[in-house]
Amino acid sequence: MTMDARLKELEALREKSRMGGGEARLKAQHERGKLSARERLELLLDEDSFVELDRFVTHRSTDFGLEERKFLGDGVVTGYGTIRGRPVYVFSQDFTVLGGSLSETHAEKIVKLQDHAMRTGAPIIGLNDSGGARIQEGVVSLGGYADIFLRNTMASGVVPQISVVLGPCAGGAVYSPAITDFVYMVRGTSYMFVTGPNVVKTVTHEDIDMEGLGGADVHAATSGVAHFAHDSEAESLAAVRELFRFIPQNNSEAPPEAVPEDPPADARDRLLTLVPDNPNKPYDMRDVIGAITDGGDFYEVHEQFGPNLLVGFAHLGGHPVGIVANQPAVLAGVLDIDASVKGARFVRFCDAFNIPLVVFEDVPGFLPGVAQEHGGIIRHGAKLLFAFAEATVPKLTVITRKAYGGAYDVMNSKHIRGDLNYAWPTAEIAVMGPKGAVEVLYRRELAGADDPQAAAEERIEEYREMFAHPYVAAARGFVDDVIDPRETRDRLVSGLDLLRNKRDRNPPSKHGNIPL
Ligand code: HXC
Repeated sequence: MTMDARLKELEALREKSRMGGGEARLKAQHERGKLSARERLELLLDEDSFVELDRFVTHRSTDFGLEERKFLGDGVVTGYGTIRGRPVYVFSQDFTVLGGSLSETHAEKIVKLQDHAMRTGAPIIGLNDSGGARIQEGVVSLGGYADIFLRNTMASGVVPQISVVLGPCAGGAVYSPAITDFVYMVRGTSYMFVTGPNVVKTVTHEDIDMEGLGGADVHAATSGVAHFAHDSEAESLAAVRELFRFIPQNNSEAPPEAVPEDPPADARDRLLTLVPDNPNKPYDMRDVIGAITDGGDFYEVHEQFGPNLLVGFAHLGGHPVGIVANQPAVLAGVLDIDASVKGARFVRFCDAFNIPLVVFEDVPGFLPGVAQEHGGIIRHGAKLLFAFAEATVPKLTVITRKAYGGAYDVMNSKHIRGDLNYAWPTAEIAVMGPKGAVEVLYRRELAGADDPQAAAEERIEEYREMFAHPYVAAARGFVDDVIDPRETRDRLVSGLDLLRNKRDRNPPSKHGNIPL
């Protein structure tokens, strides 16, 4: 055979592999509002950067007629490319090939990428669209999943792992995305569940469709399994590209700096009026963040889940940071189970990947109630405390208003190694709010008063004067300074410059035992 003929043969094979499960199935995929595995890669990666590996791999099965149904690539397109010029590994499951089901060889292709990613210190992104374990292969397929799960676990905290769910992801297959750092889903076409609607109906008699059981909004708002929900695949994949503005290649590299950019004009002065004079009035902490960060940008993570706490990425004077902020506009910014779990996971991601933490604090305490207590707010609140306490990245805190009770300690206080802790003059730092404190301290006195209401108000005013300000904490050095809100950005930027080479470590242990 001449070289020319060999090249023709190679091109024909490549073309065949590009067709996945064939034209009819590709058409069906499009008709469902879904892109093909390769179209998705084009949107995700820098133009023409994708290099495919293992395109000639086919399954080894001979049972159930599979001998005659071999497809080049075996239902997953794998390889590497770049995002914002940085190398990444990526696999994209092809639903047109046997439902994107995971065979032994399909798993081997993913495992090969995971090993590469860990060896070379590059992020790995999985585009999931699969009917799950290839039924015809039985335990061999289950073993393939376990091989992937093990590497997901080994890679955790070593390289960023990102999952985009773009179709079915059911049964044990959900546990690979669940271990990864960020899960993106698309409304209407993607769903995740351990057992589907039919099994649910049989076991619990609940009637629910796939979207209602495990669609994007359910996981983004209720279960917290997904960090992002979008209306289209294109938006979802663009959002993954955007994430790369903030995250590093691996745990021994610094996250990417940006060209410093001022917040919007007049933002500084707006900070003076954002916190209402009445301490019980809400305000939107996003306005504070938007007035301080570069360009007013905030890449919010878990936007719909536990909305009383905000987490996300931004740049401050070019430094990438992870922001954790109480949100007084929702439930007065109280910490509850969902907010604690959300915050803890985000803090641990930032700490694992050298991303400094900036905390904006306005928290009246933990949410009271039987549901919270019985749901384990003790155990879950402890996660956030543990995560902040163990974190060794630069840690900065700005108390804008309330810092009450245990939540004061938890929200990156000085006592758990906050590096630079500032308070606005509006800060109130105490064991509890004035009303609650007076009810405990003066219960008997107030009961016997001629005018209990007036007596309570007098005591509340007295308490406010004693505690509802930042100067007791400042006198102890528990906050490093009380600052004019307009100085916040400059203080944070100079703090991040100062802490650039921070070195801190925890005592050696196999690993901590975070209360799970
Ligand atoms: C083999 C599969 C398959 C699978 C789908 N196909 N899932 N083949 N193993 N797991 C094949 C179908 O037979 C069909 O082939 C083609 O893919 C497309 O599937 P359809 O059913 O026609 O598509 P659709 O109607 O869109 O339904 C999609 C689906 C359904 C909801 C995902 O296919 C389905 O329920 N599949 C089984 C899901 C499942 O129970 N998987 C195991 C989960 S447990 P033909 O040639 O007929 O067109 C699991 C354990 C993980 O994954 C282990 C971790 C420990």
